[in-house]
Amino acid sequence: MKHLLTFAIILSGFLAQAHAQDRDAFVEKLLGQMTLDEKIGQMTLFTSDWDVTGPSLRPQYKDDIKTGKVGAVFNAYTAKYTRELQRIAVENTRLKIPLLFGYDVIHGHQTIFPISLGESCSWDLQEMEASARIAAEEASAQGLHWTYAPMVDIARDPRWGRISEGAGEDTYLGSLIAAARVRGFQGKSLKDNNTLAACVKHYAVYGAAQAGRDYHTVDVSRQTLYNTYLPPFKACVDAGVASVMTSFNEFEGIPATGNSYLIEDVLRKDLQFKGFVVTDYTSINEMVPHGYSKDDKQAGEQALNAGVDMDMQGGIFMNNTKKSLEEGKVTEKDINDAVRRILAAKYDLGLFEDPYKYCDEEREKRVVMSQANLDAARRIARKSVVLLKNDKETLPLKKTQKIALIGPFANDKRSLIGSWSAAGDWTKARPLLPAMQEYAPGKITYSKGCNISDDSLQYFSLALKAAQESDVVVLCLGEQWDMSGEAASRARLGLPGIQQQLFDRIQMLGKPVVVVLMNGRPLCIPEIDAKAAAVVETWYLGTMAGPAIADVLYGEYNPSGKLTVTFPRMEGQIPVFYNMKNTGRPFDANNKYTSKYLDAPNDPLYPFGFGLSYTAFAYSPVTLDKTAMTAGGKVRASVTVSNIGKYTGEETVQLYIRDMVGSMTRPVKELKGFRKITLKPGEKQTVTFDIDESMLAFYNHELEFRAEPGTFQVMIGGNSAQTSSATFELQ
Ligand code: BGC
Repeated sequence: MKHLLTFAIILSGFLAQAHAQDRDAFVEKLLGQMTLDEKIGQMTLFTSDWDVTGPSLRPQYKDDIKTGKVGAVFNAYTAKYTRELQRIAVENTRLKIPLLFGYDVIHGHQTIFPISLGESCSWDLQEMEASARIAAEEASAQGLHWTYAPMVDIARDPRWGRISEGAGEDTYLGSLIAAARVRGFQGKSLKDNNTLAACVKHYAVYGAAQAGRDYHTVDVSRQTLYNTYLPPFKACVDAGVASVMTSFNEFEGIPATGNSYLIEDVLRKDLQFKGFVVTDYTSINEMVPHGYSKDDKQAGEQALNAGVDMDMQGGIFMNNTKKSLEEGKVTEKDINDAVRRILAAKYDLGLFEDPYKYCDEEREKRVVMSQANLDAARRIARKSVVLLKNDKETLPLKKTQKIALIGPFANDKRSLIGSWSAAGDWTKARPLLPAMQEYAPGKITYSKGCNISDDSLQYFSLALKAAQESDVVVLCLGEQWDMSGEAASRARLGLPGIQQQLFDRIQMLGKPVVVVLMNGRPLCIPEIDAKAAAVVETWYLGTMAGPAIADVLYGEYNPSGKLTVTFPRMEGQIPVFYNMKNTGRPFDANNKYTSKYLDAPNDPLYPFGFGLSYTAFAYSPVTLDKTAMTAGGKVRASVTVSNIGKYTGEETVQLYIRDMVGSMTRPVKELKGFRKITLKPGEKQTVTFDIDESMLAFYNHELEFRAEPGTFQVMIGGNSAQTSSATFELQ
């Protein structure tokens, strides 16, 4: 068996090499036949428009495709429509080079899965790979080749609306998730007609926007780049990601789209990325207002010279690059390199063999929103739910209880699929009301309560009446879908409109209130946490949100999600995340001159890694098999976890490590491993983690990845704030 496996690995290596040789020869030959205009055309990407019925292309773009001025199109889909556009390219252009069709397939294509941040709370890498796989199956059946995902920006500021698109605040977990998503989208081979080329974004450090304001400046060190923001990109490159998208922000005062340190030195030389680099939407043009380029033409030169291959939507290469070459501001070699990389991607997708291979109307009908895909969406949605509070076992609900289901999200469909919902049709999303009615017919009284964000009190009295007549109130509160995502930063993170007031009035009736949250970022909700009987974070769970939430509320599924992002108590604490540095004056309640606030605690409302279950888990103290690690050795850390509650439940056991003294200061703890285990009531399990040197290493001041001898603290627990610990020495 082992021999067979080795043989298979060697064979696949040979095949990959042979494929690369064939591809390079093909691309070289084609490149040799291309005019400069045709080359620049391959470097040009334009969006299609939207008609009432779906995507359409502006007449001038159709002409541009015909004349070979455009090599790729995004936001156009359906098997029929992409076939029509592809035909224009293949039948009219001199060299018949097929178009590449891209789209933002982020958390599902038509079957919508939880928003990426929500899905990350499942900590279930297999499921995240599965949802990306299904998204690719559906999108590729609609003629698409390329997705602008995964979004892997580490984000620690919930004011930033795009925090909803990533995997949260942690670098280690974010890297594993990033790679899982690439594997899911790209499948076994890009040549298969059910895979998408992935495009990891936004490169780089976009998530560190100052003040959480989208598109804002960032200012972080190279060490922070390498230790915090880069690893998820590296994980994607290692997983074979086909393309990378530059970000809107600057790094070290140079816009990322014109930053040769980022693109050439780090991405291509250090990470060994071999695919192509596309800009974000008009981000070359934006180097002018950034104050880095005096005009579009110079911006195009700076982008190309920095290593950009494809211009998204700016038309800058199309309009300027020929002149820049004549003036000697760019080189033919750089143009050729860019075109080579783009043609290689088209070759890898098999488009030269059959440009229409992804335009299959029969497959489209069979695959898109199939029952199997909807079932997977429901399964993954319920795994993404995080139970934040559950006093007196208010949950699960009993089918005999009279429930007042109140709130602007209780029967809402639009918000369920969140932002960046690709070709998702919100009218097909399943809201909570009918799903709960299915569980407990005749027991649910629905009342809207209020709108999401205005201050009209018109629905209050009916809601209060319903609450008064119920045993339990389920109150669905949150943010509207477009209050997170791109260009959706918020300075206040409480509930919009009069939702808080609605909660306060209902809560005063003395009934147990279960708050079901729907939102795209951590919210500041200390009063809800203090007064609600239970709080359930559901994010935007996608097409099957309603049934998934009902499964959790009625105990059909025991919640197991854990937060991948910290919830602050109030905006003034931001940024607050679990792996901060200690400072020279760490918090001391009895000493004013330590790092703290006069008017707020340092600790957050809900820490990273936190999430309850209907059952309860007890942890033994951590034990280590030795107190010293020699070079190349291992230390084994163990805990025993017991289910001391009434239900079978799933727990995510988390391993954190702290390097006590370093050549650079180190965070107070960093996630380095986790295990998901399922225990029946009364059952226990010993969980072990083998710690090796690579788990202790970091990028030092010289950007070398090294573990330094000294003391390390090992912490294990069910969230980042409640752990037990032990120490060992690295010799
Ligand atoms: C966003 C990208 C997205 C692109 C194409 C930009 O505005 O920043 O994340 O992929 O548009 O839709």
